[in-house]
Amino acid sequence: MTPQQAAEALRWLAEMGADEIIGEEPVNRSVPALPSASSPPKAPAPAIATVATPKTVSAARPALQAQPTGAGADVSRLQSLSDIEAALAGFDACPLKKTATRLCYADGNPQARVMLIGEAPGRDEDIQGKPFVGKSGQLLDRMLAAIGLSRQSADRESSVFITNVIFWRPPGNRTPTEAETQMCLPFLMKTIEVQKPDFIVCLGATPAHRLTGKTEGILKMRGKWTSANVSGRSIPLLPTLHPAYLLRQPNQKRLAWRDMLALRQMLDAH
Ligand code: URA
Repeated sequence: MTPQQAAEALRWLAEMGADEIIGEEPVNRSVPALPSASSPPKAPAPAIATVATPKTVSAARPALQAQPTGAGADVSRLQSLSDIEAALAGFDACPLKKTATRLCYADGNPQARVMLIGEAPGRDEDIQGKPFVGKSGQLLDRMLAAIGLSRQSADRESSVFITNVIFWRPPGNRTPTEAETQMCLPFLMKTIEVQKPDFIVCLGATPAHRLTGKTEGILKMRGKWTSANVSGRSIPLLPTLHPAYLLRQPNQKRLAWRDMLALRQMLDAH
C-alpha cells in the first residue's frame, strides 16, 4: 500500500465513523483467530467469503449476543440528580463505558421547568462530559435563546435542563444497541422522576420513541404535543427535530422554529 492509498483508506474509515483508536493493535474480525502453538489444531478456517453470511457474522461476534439486557440497574434508592450521576459513574455493565472518554450525564439548571432529551453524546460531549456542547449544541443554544431560554440561566422560568437517552458516547457515533439503550433507560426515567420537569422536549426520534412508545417518523411526530408517563405522572412532551439533522438540512429549521414557538406558548400559558 502506498502512503497515498493508506491516507485514502484512513479518510474513508473516518468518514464511516471509525474516528477513534480503541486498541493498540488492529484486529481483523472477519478472520477466526489462529490456534496458538500449544493448542491442538482446529478445523481449517473458513474462507473470508463465507464469513459474510448473517449466521457466520453473529457466530464470529459472540460479544454482541452476550450483552446483558440491562435489567440489572437498580435505581430505586436514588433520590437526587447527584445520586444518579454517582450511580452512573459506578455502573460498569454498559459496554459503552469502556470505549467512552468520560460519562456525559446532564447540563443546565436542575430547577428548570423544561427538560430537553437528546440521543447520545458525540465526540465533543465525550471530551467535555456535558451534553450538546458541539456544533449541534451551539445551534440548540441559539434556538433556545430565540425563545428566551438558556441552560445557563439560574431562573427556573427561563432555564432548561439537558440530558440524553445514552450517557456514554457510542464508538464512532454508531447507533447504540437495544441492550445499551435498555441499560441507560432506568437512569433516564429516574432523572425525569427526580428533576420533575413541567415539560419535556425530545430532540429527534430516539428519545421521542422511547418516552412515548410511538414509532412514527419524527417528521410526523414533531410539533404535536403528546405525553410521557413517568412514575405515574403524565408529563407534556413535545417532539422536535434534532439539531444535528437541522445542520444537515437547514431548510427544515423553519419547522424547528415552529416547535420552539409552540414551546414558548405552552410556557407562557402555564
Ligand atoms: N447529540 C445528542 O443527541 N446529544 C448530545 O449530547 C450531542 C449530540
